Amino acid sequence: MSLNIVLPSGRLLNKSKEYFIKSGIEIKEPEGRKLTNINDDYSFFYSRVFDVPVYVENGIDIGICGLDVVLERNNDVYIPLKLPFGECRMSVIVEKEKDLDVSKMEGYTIATKFPNITQKFFDSIGVKVKTIKLHGAIELAVKTGVADAIVDIVDTGRTLKENGLKEIENIKDISSVLIVNRISMKRKNKEIKEIIKNLKEVSI
Ligand code: PRP
Ligand code: MG
Repeated sequence: MSLNIVLPSGRLLNKSKEYFIKSGIEIKEPEGRKLTNINDDYSFFYSRVFDVPVYVENGIDIGICGLDVVLERNNDVYIPLKLPFGECRMSVIVEKEKDLDVSKMEGYTIATKFPNITQKFFDSIGVKVKTIKLHGAIELAVKTGVADAIVDIVDTGRTLKENGLKEIENIKDISSVLIVNRISMKRKNKEIKEIIKNLKEVSI
């Protein structure tokens, strides 16, 4: 039975491809600006990372994306495997001169690409905040004074350093994950279990 797999364009793409190739699944480069790569056994699709769990919830068999995206979009997908790349953390970030902790942020405005995760975190510590959803370069929101803090991904820490910012709380450790459509997990159980088994044995 043929399987559909959606891979994230952007920074996780190369590792995602390498990971499948090392597990024995051939992926050819898509030609030009084509977003699909279809052969007899597998169909590969390339989408924005934020849309990967949406495709998987709605019918694509398998996908790779960051855990941050799955938690933010809250799609109903099965997560059988944490993958050994894309490790980073999601943190609350403020200007480095500020002496602040998250318990004292009642009424603050927080800019983020992840408003659901942000609200959930602040709800969990009983602090009411306002979130502003942005789509990238979130650091700019504190630099311009549009927000008091941001919630964003920290990887090497370089962006923080170069923009005079610091982390005051780590909300969640993140990595990339394999996600599977819940119906496919039943209908194509044998094929998908085989893929999971092979992927588990890959080291990158
Ligand atoms: C991500 C994230 C941080 C930065 C962290 O941004 O939003 O800004 O990378 O990485 P670092 O700790 O290694 O500096 P990205 O480059 O993906 O762009 P975007 O925020 O504009 O989407
Ligand atoms: Mg950024």
